Amino acid sequence: MSQEKVLRDVVSYVRRGDRLNNTQQKAWDSWRERFVIELPAAARKTSIAPDARVDFAKEFGRDAPLLVEVGTGNGVAIAALAKAHPDANVLGFEVFIPAVASTLSRLRREEISNVRMINADAEQGFETLFDEQPITELWTFFPDPWHKKKHRKRRIVNPRFAHSAATHLVLGGRWRLATDWEDYAQWIRDVLAEEPLLREEFSKEAPRWELRPITRFEQRAIDAGREVVDLSYVRVAAKGAEEIPGQAWNDVGIRSEIGGQGDCAPSGVNACNGTEKAADDQA
Ligand SMILES: C[S@@+](CC[C@H](N)C(=O)[O-])C[C@H]1O[C@@H](n2cnc3c(N)ncnc32)[C@H](O)[C@@H]1O
Repeated sequence: MSQEKVLRDVVSYVRRGDRLNNTQQKAWDSWRERFVIELPAAARKTSIAPDARVDFAKEFGRDAPLLVEVGTGNGVAIAALAKAHPDANVLGFEVFIPAVASTLSRLRREEISNVRMINADAEQGFETLFDEQPITELWTFFPDPWHKKKHRKRRIVNPRFAHSAATHLVLGGRWRLATDWEDYAQWIRDVLAEEPLLREEFSKEAPRWELRPITRFEQRAIDAGREVVDLSYVRVAAKGAEEIPGQAWNDVGIRSEIGGQGDCAPSGVNACNGTEKAADDQA
């Protein structure tokens, strides 16, 4: 079976209508050109052609570390996190057009200029778009749950995506996740434990990331009495490989916020070089 066929048949999202309300239509028409990176599609309209490429410096108008959110919904988190990281370029993937349109409204309303959106399947984006642009940090908050066992193959956190994500993260970069489904949290742990380029940052549950705002999905979970679990993984070097920590990581003033030494210590992983910290080094 060809790779395109696999990617086409099993997707991590629910196919929904593209109908925009008046406000969304207005935002889409007005701000699409400014904030949306248009890419050629393959077989599905949410797919990305295998030869699609993005010049991120050109799209953002500057060279800066790239932070990526997968499944941005209506943009509450990406907007807040982009504001908190003005020195970074922040890229969002979202397949649902009305949600992207609402995000454009929000970006405009909140005068945020360091976000670009891709209205397509992130799994396909990770196959082709980041070969020349490493990712400094990756976020996946409240992915569609697919909580039935038979639906596990539809989850975006799967071995193939995990490997692709890890490969494209800078050494020491983080993948932060949150979910309100216990089974999904355990699934994430199981899948990512098998990925040699990632190490769970905390031996217990990660503390809630204080910069992550409460979205509608999280609020719904809280109201229903479900516990929200944060997880954090650090990109480590491949065994035996000499890898250099991501240059962008060190070159900007955001390091202490998104990956400084203080954050590295609890897990024993040095997020700045991806290696195990020696005991005397931690004092
Ligand atoms: C449950 S919502 C959560 C949205 C947001 N993260 C939040 O916390 O409000 C999950 C979102 O991920 C999007 N999504 C799922 N799989 C995706 C994929 N492969 N590529 C891009 N977006 C995806 C869905 O369309 C949906 O909007």
